[in-house]
Amino acid sequence: MLSDKTIGIVKNITPVVAANAETVTRVFYQKMFAGNPEVKAFFNQSHQHSGGQQKALAGAICAYFSHIDDLESLTPAIELIAQKHCSLGIQPEQYPIVGKHLLAAIQEVMGEAATDEILAAVGEAYQLLADVCIERERQIYAEQRALTGGWNGYRPFIVERKESESNVITSFYLKPADNGPLPSWIPGQYITVRIDHPTTPTSPRNYSLSDQPGQNYFRISVKREVSLTPDAPAGLISNYLHDVVQVGDTLEIGPPCGEFTLNLSDQHETPVVFLAGGVGVTPLLSMAKSLIASQPEAPLYFLQAARNSQTHAFRKELQELKDNGPNVRTLTMYDCPLEEDVERENYDSNGVVDETIIRDWTPFENAEFYFCGPKPFMQNVYSCLHSLNVSTDRIHFEFFGPRQDIESLANS
Ligand SMILES: Cc1cc2nc3c(=O)[nH]c(=O)nc-3n(C[C@H](O)[C@H](O)[C@H](O)COP(=O)(O)OP(=O)(O)OC[C@H]3O[C@@H](n4cnc5c(N)ncnc54)[C@H](O)[C@@H]3O)c2cc1C
Ligand code: HEM
Repeated sequence: MLSDKTIGIVKNITPVVAANAETVTRVFYQKMFAGNPEVKAFFNQSHQHSGGQQKALAGAICAYFSHIDDLESLTPAIELIAQKHCSLGIQPEQYPIVGKHLLAAIQEVMGEAATDEILAAVGEAYQLLADVCIERERQIYAEQRALTGGWNGYRPFIVERKESESNVITSFYLKPADNGPLPSWIPGQYITVRIDHPTTPTSPRNYSLSDQPGQNYFRISVKREVSLTPDAPAGLISNYLHDVVQVGDTLEIGPPCGEFTLNLSDQHETPVVFLAGGVGVTPLLSMAKSLIASQPEAPLYFLQAARNSQTHAFRKELQELKDNGPNVRTLTMYDCPLEEDVERENYDSNGVVDETIIRDWTPFENAEFYFCGPKPFMQNVYSCLHSLNVSTDRIHFEFFGPRQDIESLANS
């Protein structure tokens, strides 16, 4: 517990920290990578480059400072962080490294305003948050180890099959190299692939499990990330997986993690709506297949947005979902249909998801919504749901990267 004095000091400096939070986190990462380069390999450098990681950490610090006397309300945010940390193998002994550089960054950005008293209070507050994260991560690691077939850290898997799902998405079917069992996992969770890339050592990436649990393999489905501007490099690991990794190769895999999940022990009598943009279909497909396998009568709506038939993945699996569930409805939207798509009428709707589609096609008044896709898609879907007064407790989403403040995204 923090003393009233510490709580008071933290509350007092919250507006200053909030106004400078992204500067603080930028300075923090610079200091940490220079002072403790051994932790750099845990971090995705493109998330540093895009500023996404700095924003996510800044958001977390601001949320923590503003709720310093109401830590209960931070439980979902802490769960997301702890799951992410466990997917990457973060350890308690690394917390003092982060604490030291975070304090130094706050001191540098606040300048003379950062008195010893303020720094002591921030240090104490950091320690409390660190203790909460460390404890939750200790539990998650223990839960992972306790599962039949479970493990901590990385386990070698063999690529048993590589299957093209579209022009840009390839599925990898992975089996443990030790032939041991796979642990149970919850639909929506992701694993971590760690590759010793020739140019960038040990660059871990998360990939959602795209099939349903209970198979004798893990399946991930990876989109090839192209270079977005002439001077930008193409995606490091996705291209490596597509071009270099072949059937029979070994990959190091971290155990299933993540809190964007569908609870299958609930009886889903109210409709569940899945809205998928591009490769964001992967966790949602896993959830939808698992739901229909365990509750075939569940009312389920699956909207899949893709550019056109060339990038449209999992058409057959979505059709099977419909065949297996009497109450499954699907909708395919293309925003750049090819001429042949138009001729063959192989999609249902032209354009991008908008309020009219959600209002007319989904039972938005009582449905639970799950969505995932690129940032503009997330932004758009969230603002449509918001305009339709869908309450936030019925809205569930995942970013394929550091979490963004979706409300400010939607309002931007
Ligand atoms: C929970 C979770 C689940 C995920 N699930 C999936 C999934 O199921 N399928 C999937 O395909 N992906 C998924 N991802 C995304 C995945 O983890 C990777 O981020 C993705 O594959 C890109 O990695 P990369 O190494 O190929 O690209 P990176 O090298 O990380 O680059 C990403 C983008 O940034 C650009 N970039 C990189 N460096 C620079 C620079 N210096 N200047 C300008 N631009 C730059 C690249 O051009 C590229 O477009 C998931 C992510 C998360 C967090
Ligand atoms: C109390 C202390 C900490 C807080 C509040 C914190 C917060 C966060 C947040 C908000 C994210 C982004 C989650 C997401 O949206 O994906 C994150 C990711 C991450 N954290 Fe922490 N963290 C802390 C400690 C640590 C420590 C000690 C390490 C170890 C070096 C660490 C390493 C990482 C890594 C590697 C990522 C993923 C970054 C990426 O995507 O490149 N964190 N953390």
